[in-house]
Order: sequence, then structure tokens, then C-alpha cells
Amino acid sequence: MTRFSKDFIFGTATSSYQIEGAYKEDGRSLSIWDTFSRIPGKVWNMDHGDVACDHYHRYEEDVEILTTLGVDSYRFSIAWPRIFPEQGKYNPAGMDFYKRLITKLKENNIKPSVTLYHWDLPMWAHELGGWTNRESVNWFKEFASICFEELDADVDSWITHNEPWCAGFLGYHQGVHAPGHTNMEEALKAVHHILLSHGEAVDLLKNQFQSKTPIGITLNLSPVYAASNSTNDRLAANNADGYGNRWFLDPVFKGSYPVDMMNLFSKYVHDYRFIQAGDLEKISIECDFFGINYYSRSIVEFSSAADFLYKGAYSDYDQTGMGWDIAPNEFKELIRRLREEYTNLPIYITENGAAFDDVVAEDGRVYDTERQKYVEEHIAAVADLNDEGMNIAGYYLWSLLDNFEWAFGYDKRFGITYVDFETQKRTLKETGHRYADVIRTRTI
Ligand code: FCB
Repeated sequence: MTRFSKDFIFGTATSSYQIEGAYKEDGRSLSIWDTFSRIPGKVWNMDHGDVACDHYHRYEEDVEILTTLGVDSYRFSIAWPRIFPEQGKYNPAGMDFYKRLITKLKENNIKPSVTLYHWDLPMWAHELGGWTNRESVNWFKEFASICFEELDADVDSWITHNEPWCAGFLGYHQGVHAPGHTNMEEALKAVHHILLSHGEAVDLLKNQFQSKTPIGITLNLSPVYAASNSTNDRLAANNADGYGNRWFLDPVFKGSYPVDMMNLFSKYVHDYRFIQAGDLEKISIECDFFGINYYSRSIVEFSSAADFLYKGAYSDYDQTGMGWDIAPNEFKELIRRLREEYTNLPIYITENGAAFDDVVAEDGRVYDTERQKYVEEHIAAVADLNDEGMNIAGYYLWSLLDNFEWAFGYDKRFGITYVDFETQKRTLKETGHRYADVIRTRTI
């Protein structure tokens, strides 16, 4: 039975720092990930993205893989330090790479879906305070503006930001992502400026450029469950949901920050004046779609010792190689909740996938059965949701290639293409072959 219409978008996703390499080429300057990955203890094995998948030089071969898969669309991001290696200094040579890539995609009938910010903030911006500095909104606008000017004619959809939760909270509060800070006040400012820059970019594209290209934001969302029905555990779940989901969903869709969380965060932030008049109207500007990255559910319990009164609880679910619960049913519950509480916009699943320890078999193939099962279950969930009328317009598998998995370096493989990082040889895993069948037959 056909379960996906002809216009449903199947794709794969990547991001610049994770795959490109060529970290000094054609005028690129350093990003916060280039420097963060060089601090001992921050990234597994002290891995870094100097070469990564060498995609900068091998993009043609990688587009061929996309063609083999038969995807409708490819989601990638633009490295800001290629475009503005210094403040205010545009570098056309860096932009040319994306033009070449887009041309190649178009030749193969693959729709480019372009993310402006997938975490590689230029070091020059970081040195001026990074996202904690309200000026970052203007720097981002300048970057977005040149991308729109140069690329909009050939881009099928724009995503302003990928996962502000990670950029803001993992980067400035938990310190596990670049720039590695551990300051909640900085984190809240960073998130606010990231969200504001999203609104500004949408406004720019729609009102200044008068473009009809769809634009939206991608949030990572994880539905939160309480370990028990006790008052304490339910409070814990509420707080975890506030920290992980509502702090982003509410401003984007309701034009307000959740007051319960403002109270909780006021342990660290006594002055919310960085939220200025008009900001929340800008942040909640109307978009054309909503992007969601979904990997897992969360289960939490009360902890009086924890900052926000919750901690991860024991789970008996099967897990991926990241130790993340495999939870396609909870994915459905998440989407239903979003429909009820937040938005009617078309939803794109802009990332979904799983890391497992892959091995290349003697026959040269990669039999990644666990990943295949994960992907099949989640694509089936998308089909079920659409049967319920949930209007999911597309699904992007993370990721096209094994790549630099941030703090986990090259230790965690999310690709549907196996990459031998010594030789740069690519091998489509069994999940990749299966995905090609799903796309061709539109069935699961
Ligand atoms: C998401 C990121 C992506 C990748 C996957 C596994 O949080 O957007 O870059 O790391 O997780």
C-alpha cells in the first residue's frame, strides 16, 4: 500500500562543520568548533573537523550517493566563517562552494534545503561575546542577507537555525558543546538572541527580499515522561519539558516565555531586561513550516539536589548507540501535542536517525539491522501520523554520511553511508539501500 504521496519530501541531512573539512580553504576562518575541539577533554579522542568527510572536495561523489538514494531533497548548512571570515568582510570564494553544490543538486533534481546556522559560529563573533551579545542579531542578519541574495533563487527552503537548545543550552549552560561555557544567564541571553535573529531573518527574506521561498526554524524536541505519577516526579517532568521544549516552543509560537520557567531560572537570572519590547513579536513571526529533529523520548524523576529539580530516570526501553531510548510511539504523542497546543504549520522532520556501532562485513557491506529497524519504525510513525491528518510534509534522515558527531567525535556513526575516515571511502549501508526502496515505492 502506498503510504506517501508523490509530493511528500524524502531527504537526508548533514551540517557544514560535521562533514566539510577544508577548514582553512578559500579564505575560511575558524569557528568555535575548530577551537573547542582543540581543548583537551572536550571532544572524544581530540577529534576535530579539519578534514571530516572531506565533503568540500568530494561533494560531487556525495551528490551521486543522493542520486542513488533517489531523495527529493538534501538538507545541509552553510559555514558562516566561510562567508564572513572577518566581521563585515564578505568572502565570495566561500560562497562559491555552496553555489557549486547547489548547481550539482539542481542538475540531479534534488531540492536544496539550506540551514543558515548549524553551530559553527565564527571565532571573531565569539570574541565579541558570541550569542550573548545582542549585536549577534545584526551579524546574523548580515550573513543571512548575503545568503539570500546569492542563493535564494535556487534554494527550495530555508531553515534559520538548527536546534537553538543545543547552541544555547549545551553551549553556554552545560558546557558540553562549543563555546563550552557553564553559565545559565549567558545561556538564556544566547537563546534569546538566537531566537531573535531567527525572527529577523524571516522578516528579511519575506519583507525585504519579497521572496516566496518557504522559511522556518528547526527545534529539537523530546517528549518528557515522569518516572511515576507522584507529585514530585510530575513536577520534575514539567521542569524538564520547560527546559527542553517549552522554552523554545512558547516564544516561537505564542510570543512569550513560560513564566514557571522564568521563575525557576531566576535562581541565576535576576534581570530579564535583555528581553526588550518587540522582541517576542519578532520571534513569533509567522513562518511557512516548522522543522523538528526527533531522536528520543526523555524519562525523568524528582531530584532535590538537581538545579531544576529533575534528573534522568531509569528506562527499560531498547536504546541506540547513544544510549537514547528508541521511542516511535512517543514521537507520535509529541506531534499530536504540537498540533493541539502549538501549530498548524506543515511539519518537516528535519532530522531523525540513530547511531550504532557499525562494522564492514567481509563481503564489504554494512549490515546495520538495528538502524534499519529504527528508521523503518519512525517512517511508519510518520505515515500513521499523516493518516491521522497531522500534515507532516517531509522526512530527512540524519545523516547522509558518518561524520563528526560533536563532542563524540568520529566515535558515533549516524550515517546511512559508512565513511572510512582513513581512505574517505563511502559505502552505502543496508539502511541506505532500504531507504532507497522506501523512497522509490513510497511505501513502508
Ligand atoms: C542533532 C544535531 C546533528 C547531529 C544529530 C545526531 O542534535 O542537529 O548535528 O549531531 O543530533
